[in-house]
Amino acid sequence: MATAEQIVALLKSYSDKDDVRFLSVAMQIAAHESRQGHKTMAKELMDLIDRVKENRSSIPVNNDPIPIIRPKGELTGLLTANFSKDRIGDLAVSLELKNRLAQILIEQRQRDKIQAYGLLPRHKVLLIGPPGTGKTLTARILAGELHIPLFTIRLDTVITKFMGETAAKLRLIFDAIAQTRGVYLFDEFDAIGSHRDSNNDVGEVRRILNSFLQFMEEDCSNSVIVAATNHPNLLDSALFRRFDDVLEYTLPDTEEITTLLTSHLARFNTKDVEWSTISHRAVGLSHAEVVQSAKDAAKNAILQDHESIKSSMVINAIDNRTRKRNNMKN
Ligand SMILES: Nc1ncnc2c1ncn2[C@@H]1O[C@H](COP(=O)(O)OP(=O)(O)O)[C@@H](O)[C@H]1O
Ligand SMILES: [Mg+2]
Repeated sequence: MATAEQIVALLKSYSDKDDVRFLSVAMQIAAHESRQGHKTMAKELMDLIDRVKENRSSIPVNNDPIPIIRPKGELTGLLTANFSKDRIGDLAVSLELKNRLAQILIEQRQRDKIQAYGLLPRHKVLLIGPPGTGKTLTARILAGELHIPLFTIRLDTVITKFMGETAAKLRLIFDAIAQTRGVYLFDEFDAIGSHRDSNNDVGEVRRILNSFLQFMEEDCSNSVIVAATNHPNLLDSALFRRFDDVLEYTLPDTEEITTLLTSHLARFNTKDVEWSTISHRAVGLSHAEVVQSAKDAAKNAILQDHESIKSSMVINAIDNRTRKRNNMKN
């Protein structure tokens, strides 16, 4: 039997129209029954839950701690979806970049007010910059801050050798953008937006780009469209105009490096660490590499049963990452 607490949670999520929570509680009850050995009851519940999910186009499915929405029908395989808990405070970037992101959030949160005057909130953003500097993280933060799902477009399945099909798939995605509010991330966007003519069939490549441009032009949805690329130089210049904002990401400076290291080593005693020396040594690494260095140092400390972190541990980790980066370049 479900506990009284579970029934309260079910009713509360029903009255809040919180589908994610409702299904999450229902699945918890099914799991509870299964653990009790009530296999028939558990199966009946799971069948019912599946039926509810099938009857709704994009019903959220809980998968604690991060629930997942499963795209249905023709969208299957074209997008993956999940919820994010990332926050703007997690991002180490310049103040200017942070302010520009904050502006997007302000306009999105007050979009009714803006729309009442016939204007649209900022909702098409292009993120450019080297790998590991926070572009994908930014898409997660926008979704997390706005409490809307993050849909990542799987360009590998959208773009096929059958170019005509690609345009049809793009239409499906833009229909979803109009229908279900979310952050839609076109990661490694140069695959679509490229003006390269390496492909034999230049006309077809051009057609995909043109249909994307047209969909972007027509879009006045409530969703947020984020395109990210490490290779902005490959993008067709016509694309830049279609975005409300173009945000440029750069490798972290010493201040950002210190922020990243201290926040990822916050659980340890770091009073002896010389942050200034260390952060200078890490210049040239990406944010992702600095975070990895902090994690490497943390793991070593844990394995050696140290509660405090010494400068040398962080320096070793950074030097290893630097070597790795240089090996990859050669
Ligand atoms: N600007 C940043 N601030 C904080 N953490 C970052 C930043 N950039 C990258 N990271 C860390 O590195 C990971 C990978 O970064 P990601 O956003 O995927 O980089 P990109 O998409 O630019 O290649 C993130 O999940 C995060 O842990
Ligand atoms: Mg990325």
